[in-house]
Amino acid sequence: MVYLSDMDDDSAAKLKHQAEEVLKINDRELWTVPAADLYPHQWLWDSCFISIGLRHVDIERAKTELRSLLRGQWSNGMLPNIIFAGHEQRHIDLWRSWVSPYAPDEVATSGITQPPMFAEAIYQIGQRLKLAERRSWYKEMLPALISYHEWLYTDRDPHQQGLVLLLHPYECGLDNTPPWISELRKHSLPWWIRLIEKFHLDKPVNYFRRDTKHVPPGQRMSNIEALAYWSALRRLRRKAYNSEALLPRALFAVEDLNFNSILIRANSLLKQIAKTAGHDLPEELDEAIQRGETALDQLWDEASGQYYSRSFVSHKLIEEPSIATLMPLYSGVIPPERVARLVDLLKRQRFFSASWPVPSVPLNSPYFDPYKYWQGPSWVNLNWLIITGLKNYGYEAEATVLKDRTLQMVAKSGMYEYFNPLNATGAGAANFSWTAALTIDLLKS
Ligand code: GLC
Repeated sequence: MVYLSDMDDDSAAKLKHQAEEVLKINDRELWTVPAADLYPHQWLWDSCFISIGLRHVDIERAKTELRSLLRGQWSNGMLPNIIFAGHEQRHIDLWRSWVSPYAPDEVATSGITQPPMFAEAIYQIGQRLKLAERRSWYKEMLPALISYHEWLYTDRDPHQQGLVLLLHPYECGLDNTPPWISELRKHSLPWWIRLIEKFHLDKPVNYFRRDTKHVPPGQRMSNIEALAYWSALRRLRRKAYNSEALLPRALFAVEDLNFNSILIRANSLLKQIAKTAGHDLPEELDEAIQRGETALDQLWDEASGQYYSRSFVSHKLIEEPSIATLMPLYSGVIPPERVARLVDLLKRQRFFSASWPVPSVPLNSPYFDPYKYWQGPSWVNLNWLIITGLKNYGYEAEATVLKDRTLQMVAKSGMYEYFNPLNATGAGAANFSWTAALTIDLLKS
């Protein structure tokens, strides 16, 4: 495949300007919405990515973005994936965070988390500050960061395996990604959803869906997937989002590859943040972090030469390739020969090598559809994670190629939520914040 070289200065300046405009449109003073109509609240990993871009534009505003996430932190340390803006009572009522004694009083939130990009965002802001300021920034954020990571291990790694489990697909950030869809279909599709599917009775679901009012249905998850996720959410809510109560009878819980890869890098950044701030980490957390460093080994399958997510319930690998396959590159802890195998998959035709990379499932996957949300399109945040991983492992040339191609894709089509990997057409929400923010970051790096 032939890639064009870097973009010229004028095009880069134009692109940066466009990206800054999107962030302005979506700015709600203390935090940024992912996209005005489709996502009118604050989302956890979105705000982390957004602050990584904002740090180049207005570093104080970038700090505010992360401080705002602390409004939603539960007293047990959990950072929720959504902090509701106050309107849209229907969504607030759906989650009912107040059923948990740990939820905050002042804001309504969801009851689950999202990939732990918080440490990376704090760290990246720190990189733009002078040492004294960096120290005080890290000192300010450290208590919340520690209690979040403590919660992840105490609440979500009950057998101390070094791998954190997730209870709902929304927690993995890649909503309808194949490993989760296949797991859900196997173990947890209630009879009434099967019936609706069998007799094609899902049309009325559209009435309740907000996303398909803003985006063509073919670009979102199907009604059956949406129903399954809604039913899984209700199960969590019934048990007040309490994992101890949920796990003994859980139909599915997943040690998710994307989430754990991000967590492992987050741990190493947490250690650096604590060191700069002059703080020791609590002993138990330190031990959990050490267990995490070798834990991805449990997810490796030598026969296929790939990592997979694992079912916490059956303890079996979920052998369904997806973009998560490449995320151990970002973790920073895998051995060089496995890095080489993942880089090979990234470059392999019919796998992840598309004209406009990186497709969110391999091109030869039966799930592949170039427009269907997390089952085909290329996403700028995932490209950013892969680029960061490639650089850290010394694959500079590959990182540069992917960076250039990502920027060209955005320049060609606009600040979309995701992109068709075959022709770069933008899809999902227009004016999407993390696309804009990470475009700024990639232009600067
Ligand atoms: C969708 C995405 C999720 C993102 C959210 C807001 O739910 O799957 O990753 O955080 O939208 O952008």
